[in-house]
Amino acid sequence: MTATEEKSAPSVGFSGLKVVSFESRRAFEMESLIVRNEGVPLVAPSMREIPFEVNAEAVEFGRKVIEGKADIVIFMTGVGTRFLVQVIEKALNKRKFLEELSAATVVARGPKPVSALKEINIAPAIVAPEPNTWREVFSALTQKTNLKDKRVFVQEYGIPSKGLIDALKAAGARVSRVPVYRWALPDDLNSLRKAILAVCDGKADILLFTNATQIHHVLQIAAEDGLEASFREGLARAVVASIGPVMTKNLRDLDLPVDFEAEKSIMGLFVKEAAEKCPEILVRKRTTIGLSAGPVRAKIYPPQPFDKNAVQNSLMLKACRGEKVPRTPVWIMRQAGRYMKEYRDVRAKVGFLELCKNSDLACEVTVTAQERLGVDAAILFSDILLILEPMGVGLEYVKGDGPVIHRPVRAREDIENLREENPKQSLSFVMDAVKKIRSALKPDIPLIGFAGAPFTLASYAIEGKSSDNYLHTKSLMYRDPGAWNLLMEKFTGQTAAYLNAQIEAGAQIVQVFDSWVGALSPMDYRELVFPHMKKLFASIAPSIPIIHFGTGTAGILDLIKEAGGSVIGLDWRVNLGEQRDRLGEIPVQGNLDPLVLLSGKDVIRRKVKQILDQNAGRPGHIFNLGHGILPQTPVENAVALVDAVRELSGI
Ligand code: CP3
Repeated sequence: MTATEEKSAPSVGFSGLKVVSFESRRAFEMESLIVRNEGVPLVAPSMREIPFEVNAEAVEFGRKVIEGKADIVIFMTGVGTRFLVQVIEKALNKRKFLEELSAATVVARGPKPVSALKEINIAPAIVAPEPNTWREVFSALTQKTNLKDKRVFVQEYGIPSKGLIDALKAAGARVSRVPVYRWALPDDLNSLRKAILAVCDGKADILLFTNATQIHHVLQIAAEDGLEASFREGLARAVVASIGPVMTKNLRDLDLPVDFEAEKSIMGLFVKEAAEKCPEILVRKRTTIGLSAGPVRAKIYPPQPFDKNAVQNSLMLKACRGEKVPRTPVWIMRQAGRYMKEYRDVRAKVGFLELCKNSDLACEVTVTAQERLGVDAAILFSDILLILEPMGVGLEYVKGDGPVIHRPVRAREDIENLREENPKQSLSFVMDAVKKIRSALKPDIPLIGFAGAPFTLASYAIEGKSSDNYLHTKSLMYRDPGAWNLLMEKFTGQTAAYLNAQIEAGAQIVQVFDSWVGALSPMDYRELVFPHMKKLFASIAPSIPIIHFGTGTAGILDLIKEAGGSVIGLDWRVNLGEQRDRLGEIPVQGNLDPLVLLSGKDVIRRKVKQILDQNAGRPGHIFNLGHGILPQTPVENAVALVDAVRELSGI
């Protein structure tokens, strides 16, 4: 065999690729078929068969037919027709049913119900022509009969035939729907959720779809978990294989890709053919979108020794403790973000939530940002809103729109229903990321963990998205302070446990983001937020510094300091020197206007100097922006900021 022949020799089956299937009834068979074809199976049942008795409408329909009370019966689907007959023969006299059915006008939507009816020796009087939508059914029917006052029954399977039913009613018919139910979601959704996450994380290579209900159920659960967009993006990077034309049509109707359709709709042959053809399709598909042929892989960093002294004596930790330092430490809020090409490259391959949930990738973007900028601290890559997901509100990051909460909490009942799991488990991927980042960072670079503060979390949970005036949040706060306090208590408990878990996993500092608390009057802050913040700070492990950050807080800074935290964040709306005079010894972090970074290096240098001058050499200053870096920032300007602080603050 020559070298070229060797290269083009067909691969062996799935060659160790991860193959996902949502097959239910024949799950074991599917799993062994995948293994036999050299794949690594992930089979997650997505359906559960419903007992016949649930189909009360179907039995009622059978009874009406037997009583001669059906003038017209429309059969929409082949599978549904067969199942309907099975339900009826269990409960009623099949022979009588068929006799009376032949006396009615039987209509079939297309060839599939025609063949199902043939099996019970019924020849439909009307068969709708192609393309067999409800419109053809309706026009074929109206051409033959007047519908006025006719008793019409419409068999439905899966999808309700709303268009047809409305049209029949408008033509004067007395319409009854006959839905037949066969499949429900499985009782235990864990394995299904795991498979969905694997697809989102880019860990699935090939998906085998054998039944249309599978994809409807999968999308339903993905949407509930806020992962629909991520799941769809996952399919764009994997090969989607369909068992036949009906399956293909269902996938395409849902705007999903179909990369391969089996020649024969038989499970064994489908898996075999998929094993022969899909690996090659995968390589082609991934190359077209600029990905390597394998799953998305993160850069893995060699472990660094953890040197407690090195980190404790770092500029950053010293400044947090208010100790003297040879120069001012600096880092940038949102330093790993869209303004940085390295970040955008990773994001081109994975969705935002998926990136947060993949601890290797989260580690990569965290460490890359710290190294690229040369900043004195790394901040965990994550998002303050992730804590809301296991509480059951349905979090999703929608391209261009930012975060969206699908089930915002507006009433006391919603708040009571918020789940309180232990974040150490429900957000275990964050703790994994913390461990990996700690191990990858240089020993003298501390890692900052973080969480959102209760008020800022509430503003998203209640509004459902970013907000200008916090209308719903403030209404709830004033209308029902009891419910509000319950919400604050739940968030306080969750946030404290979450931060403690991050500290235990290896964070040296934590920052509490109360980004939007400046929207409150000092009275309201004191009455409705302050007690919870006090409790939160009192519940965090006292061993490490806590940065207490907010924006628009000029009017409540004293209260913010009193609430707790060892470092106070300042935004650019205040003079840093004046605030230090006012606040006393406590260290501060800030406070350059992020917009300055859109100017040039000279302006950046000048503004940095002004802030350093305001601080006037007092210990306990950490240089930062007053809020997160903007996506429009040229990365060189962020580097110029870091350089300016290093040079201008040195002694
Ligand atoms: O600082 C870092 O580098 C760590 C990562 C980090 C992110 N969000 C990543 C992120 C941190 C610390 C946050 C905090 C955060 N998230 C806050 C508090 C800080 C602040 O800026 O006030 C808030 C309010 C959020 C909520 C949030 N997340 C919003 C409103 C948005 C959309 C708007 C935006 O800035 O894009 C996000 C998404 C988000 N969080 C992105 C990043 C890098 C962009 C998502 C993407 O890549 O498309």
